[in-house]
Amino acid sequence: MVGETLQIGLAGLGTVGSGVYEALLRNRDLLEARAQISYQVRRIAVRDKTRKRGVEVDETLLTDDWRDLVDDDEIDIVIELIGGTTEAYQLVRAALEKGKPVVTGNKALLAEYGSTLFRLSREKGVPLYFEASCGGGIPIVQSLQHSLICNKVSAVVGIINGTSNYVLTAMDKEGLSLREALQQAQSLGYAEPDPLLDINGWDAAHKGLILAMLAYGAPLGSEAISVTGIEHIEPVDFSFARRLGYTIKLLVVIRYHERRNALELRVQPSFVPQQHLLSKVDGVFNAIAVCGDIVGETIFYGRGAGKNPTSSAVVGDVVLAMRECRLPGYHTGFLPYAEGVKALPVEATETSCYVRFRVKDCHGVIASIATIFSQHDIGIAATSSAEGEHDGTEGWNHLVFMLHVCCWGQLQEALGDIRKLPTVVGEPVVLRIESFQTS
Ligand code: HSE
Repeated sequence: MVGETLQIGLAGLGTVGSGVYEALLRNRDLLEARAQISYQVRRIAVRDKTRKRGVEVDETLLTDDWRDLVDDDEIDIVIELIGGTTEAYQLVRAALEKGKPVVTGNKALLAEYGSTLFRLSREKGVPLYFEASCGGGIPIVQSLQHSLICNKVSAVVGIINGTSNYVLTAMDKEGLSLREALQQAQSLGYAEPDPLLDINGWDAAHKGLILAMLAYGAPLGSEAISVTGIEHIEPVDFSFARRLGYTIKLLVVIRYHERRNALELRVQPSFVPQQHLLSKVDGVFNAIAVCGDIVGETIFYGRGAGKNPTSSAVVGDVVLAMRECRLPGYHTGFLPYAEGVKALPVEATETSCYVRFRVKDCHGVIASIATIFSQHDIGIAATSSAEGEHDGTEGWNHLVFMLHVCCWGQLQEALGDIRKLPTVVGEPVVLRIESFQTS
């Protein structure tokens, strides 16, 4: 072993916090042997000291004030797992100010305060590690930051929200409604306390902003990303997708457009070709495809949520922090290296699309919609309106258009005109068809 025993302060003893505590104890011998460093959890900050918890902890370690971790000069490393952005921000900031490396899994914190915290990290020369903030147990942060450092990244495309993927899989494979599938995900503990962020795409967006920052070198604000959730998808969309050779996935798409020197950054439910590996990623699993100019396409797959996978990522960072504590003046934590990245307006992004309308089942309805698409210069690759997909309401049917590649803005204008047709009812469901071009 090298030097003295390193002292860890843990803030938060919820699901992930207890997982981290247990992993640090259970695999102590292995971790100490691998890192050649001994460690001890010195203090644990919790909201309520009297609460019964699922992990056995020496009560004398507990405090209900996270400042005790920051103010304790013996503590070398702070792990932030309290969640939220208010107190978590104060804690991370205070720890970095005090020169203590911080490990966090808090994606919302990085989405909101990433720029400030990384600036502070640079000023103080103190690292902030965040492997657990994206993809749960998948080592994507370290991979983008270090293993793939050689590459100019042309695209990152991934499924990075386990709950929505679980919901989409259950809708597809078991024919459940969105609400039934979400209840199942909640009862299994996958969803966020407020599952709204899982369903409306913002949990994936926060993670997407982190991936974009790693791949392109500068934190981006939430205004840079266009976000659509899965709330409007219905079981009928899966039948159409299957018949057309696709699966529906909520994708984060990050693509660099060299000609415009701008980044396409969006979270949207999308058609994924059945032959592509991402279409096979089911349930709570996540997968992230990274395309680099030197490495080509790589795909990272694993559990994107849950106590143990997330704890694995946190403890990996803790060991890294411990090793780097032994190297004063040096660390491998993320430091922005780009001046800023220009985001491509979503209206200018281009893909083929699937559009499903609910229409009055009468003569001329296909022609009237097709005419409007044509007026907006949008080509139609195929239409579909199978009897079997009828929702049972007399006189109405689903009508699907598969469109050639067009601009999102152009499509929105066409849809604005189509909505005015008396034969079209309610909001159309629009899904991107991802091409998986690597450049
Ligand atoms: N609720 C998240 C998900 C887990 O479903 O992926 C943590 O990020």
